[in-house]
Amino acid sequence: MENSTQLNDIREVVENDRMHVWHHLNHHKKFETIDPPIMVEGKGIEIWDANGKRFLDAVSGGVWTVNVGYGRTEIADAVRDQLIKMNYFAGTIGNVPAANFAKKLIEKMPGMSRVYFNNSGSEANEKVYKMVRQISHRKYGGKKFKILYRDRDYHGTTIANLSAGGHEQRNAEFGPYTPGFVKIPHCLEYRNQYDSAEDYGKRSVEAIEEIILREGADTIGAMVLEPITAGGGVITPPEGYWEGVQALCKKYDILLHIDEVVCGLGRTGKWFGYQHYDIKPDFVTMAKGVASGYAAIACTVTTEEIFEFFKEDESDPLSYFRDISTFGGCTAGPVAALENIRIIEDEGLVENCAAMGEYLFELLLGLQKKHEVIGDVRGKGLFAGIELVKDRETKEPVEEKDVQATIGHCLNESGVMIGATNRSLPGFNNSLLFSPALIATKANIEELVDAVDAALSEVFG
Ligand SMILES: Cc1ncc(COP(=O)(O)O)c(C=O)c1O
Repeated sequence: MENSTQLNDIREVVENDRMHVWHHLNHHKKFETIDPPIMVEGKGIEIWDANGKRFLDAVSGGVWTVNVGYGRTEIADAVRDQLIKMNYFAGTIGNVPAANFAKKLIEKMPGMSRVYFNNSGSEANEKVYKMVRQISHRKYGGKKFKILYRDRDYHGTTIANLSAGGHEQRNAEFGPYTPGFVKIPHCLEYRNQYDSAEDYGKRSVEAIEEIILREGADTIGAMVLEPITAGGGVITPPEGYWEGVQALCKKYDILLHIDEVVCGLGRTGKWFGYQHYDIKPDFVTMAKGVASGYAAIACTVTTEEIFEFFKEDESDPLSYFRDISTFGGCTAGPVAALENIRIIEDEGLVENCAAMGEYLFELLLGLQKKHEVIGDVRGKGLFAGIELVKDRETKEPVEEKDVQATIGHCLNESGVMIGATNRSLPGFNNSLLFSPALIATKANIEELVDAVDAALSEVFG
């Protein structure tokens, strides 16, 4: 922001925004007295706002998205070239980057075989709900249609996804919801909801089985789960949990849908979150990190077995997946995704994420020793959360306003942007969230943790 012309332009932008843009997840009253924030530039892991202030982005574009960092000219060039050559045709017909990206992606996902392109995490999940219902109609006379979802998980913004959403506060006032979605309990051991403290993983699986038996296994078509819960407070599952879930799915013929919208493409230190565990999914959905936000793209990935089911009988006019996503035919998404995955491979970013993740956890555990307010430290790779409590014994959550003050201190005093559970979980919006780009260095991690250290000292003493 060097000369006055640029400054004047930016004033106009700020006013245009104030007058006409409706920001996501914001109460707008405050923008009558303060300027709405505008980001103008990003490079690597850093971003600059309209006032020229620099921030370390420890949330990858706010919502775990810009995994390879900002300013990647290789992606921009590839998208530009592709748009000039062939920008779009409906997904009823193939295109070059989609075919090539599908092959590349499937190489990273042994056991999976088909990619259905669409353009948001919500939409990718909706496709699975539709497939499960169609399977129910064709195979089980419409009876096996229910979908189990978990408390504290989030799957998207549409009404069906809110119906599958375990964030009570996010869902509030948007009902009535879509029928057929059944809640199972969360698996956050720190907030053990059972009488016994013994073998929490096993108890959590038993709780799911109780629900399956209550509903009737012959009514349940699928279970949708995040491999590691993201917005619900970064919840790494307890010992034995995934093995148990997998066994239940097998026992009761329930399809397993893993929502990798956040964890996918390296975020947890493996290509996919489910690959930390012994899981064989029937469906995997992904979005955010697929093209790191350089283009909108989401994928619903299935096994060949699921795919085969939808092409059983060509003479039957209903025997295929009768669905389309207009922008699922945009070529910008897969061409950006191809470059994104090439960058992740060439720069060893999954490995960097695992190594820097370890360093992040080492520093966060050190911080926990210093600050009584840190009750729990959770996560994997560059995907971390710390839960703040007033008292380690009672585990009473801190006030949401103090969580916001902590974020504000990091932002304004240290120039570090971090996240938090926010108006999602009644009484439990008390976790700070960190998800820097997979290119993060030790120096970036230290800057992040130093900022949190300073903020916790200021807000909680
Ligand atoms: C786990 C998970 N699934 C799905 C979604 C929805 O993705 P989108 O906002 O692209 O629709 C999100 C968004 O934050 C998410 O965190």
